[in-house]
Amino acid sequence: MRMSDNLAARLKELGVELRPAVPLSEKTSLGIGGTTDQLLLRKFETIPDVMHLLADENVPRRFLGGGTNVLIADGELPYVVLHLPTSQPGMRVEGNAAYVDAAADLGGMVTFCAKRDLGGMEGLIGVPGSVGGALRMNAGAYGTQIGSYVREVELYRASAGKLETLRGDDIRFDYRHTSFAPDDVMLRVKLELPQKPFKDILAVIKVCNEKRRASQPLNQKSAGCIFKNPPGGSAGRMIDELRLKGHRVGDAMVSDRHANFFVNVANASCADMLRLIDEVRERVRVTFGVELENEVIFWKN
Ligand code: EPU
Repeated sequence: MRMSDNLAARLKELGVELRPAVPLSEKTSLGIGGTTDQLLLRKFETIPDVMHLLADENVPRRFLGGGTNVLIADGELPYVVLHLPTSQPGMRVEGNAAYVDAAADLGGMVTFCAKRDLGGMEGLIGVPGSVGGALRMNAGAYGTQIGSYVREVELYRASAGKLETLRGDDIRFDYRHTSFAPDDVMLRVKLELPQKPFKDILAVIKVCNEKRRASQPLNQKSAGCIFKNPPGGSAGRMIDELRLKGHRVGDAMVSDRHANFFVNVANASCADMLRLIDEVRERVRVTFGVELENEVIFWKN
C-alpha cells in the first residue's frame, strides 16, 4: 500500500521514518511476503498519535516484530507495516525483575538476564524472534514458556486508543495462545525470574542448543513449526509417518530434518506455502482423523 504525500508528511512530523515499497520477504524468516510501505517508529509515546492519524485516513496497518512466525501474502499488500523503535531496545535488571522492550531480540534477552544470574528461560534460547512476538504467542520450547515469568505488560490497546499496563495475573497464557486482543501492540514487559548462577544457566542453554541443532533445520528459511501439536500428539511425527519429508509445492518444502518445519528452499511464494500447508493438513486429516491448526500466523490480505 502506498500512502499519500500529505499523510507521509504528517507522519514525519511525528518522528516516523518512512520506507516506501519494502518487500516484506526481506523482513521475514521464511523469505516470503509482498510489498508495502514501512513505518519505523522512534518513540513509544508517539504510538497513539500515529495510530489515530492512520485511522483518520482509513489506512489499514499491522505491526511486524521479528517476522519469524508469520506467513505474509504475495504482491502489493493492502496495509502498511509498522515497526517499534528497534535501534537500542531497553533491557534492565533490578533484583529478580527484568524490564525489557518488546522490540528486543528474545535470545538476546535470555543471555542478558543469564549474565546477571537470572535464569528460568533457558529453553527459549534458540527461539528466533522478538520479545513482543514471544509474548503474543506465548513462545515456548523445552518445557519453558515465556508466560510463566510475565508480571506486567505495557501495551497499546487499539480498542481503547491508548497505552495501558496489564498485570501478569490478568493475562491468560495458553499453549501458543494468549488473551491479548489481535490488535494489541506489545511495548514492554516486566518478568520475574529465579536466581541461578550464570554457569548453571549456560550448561542448560548448551543442552537446548544441541537438541535444537540435532532436530531442526536451523540454516534454512522457515517460520519454525507450521502446525500446533494436537493435544497429546505430535504434528511432526504424524507428517513424518506419512513420509512427507521432502514433499514440495514449488519452492516450499517439508523439511527433511523436522517434518513440522516447512522451508523455503529458494523463491517460494505464499501461494506455494499455503498449498503445501493445505495438502499436508488434508493428508493428516484423512489418515489420522486429526485437524491440524496453524501455529504460524497467516497475514491474509
Ligand atoms: N518427530 C518425528 N519426526 C519429525 C519431527 C519430530 O518423528 O520429523 C518426533 C520426535 O522424534 C519426537 C516428537 O516427534 O518424538 C516431538 O518432536 P520434537 O521434540 O522435535 O518437538 P515438537 O513437538 O515437534 C515442539 C515445539 C517446537 C519446540 C520443540 C522443543 C510445537 C508445535 N513445536 O516441537 O517449537 O522447539 O518442541 O521444545 O509446539 C515452534 O513453536 O515453532 C517450534 C518449533
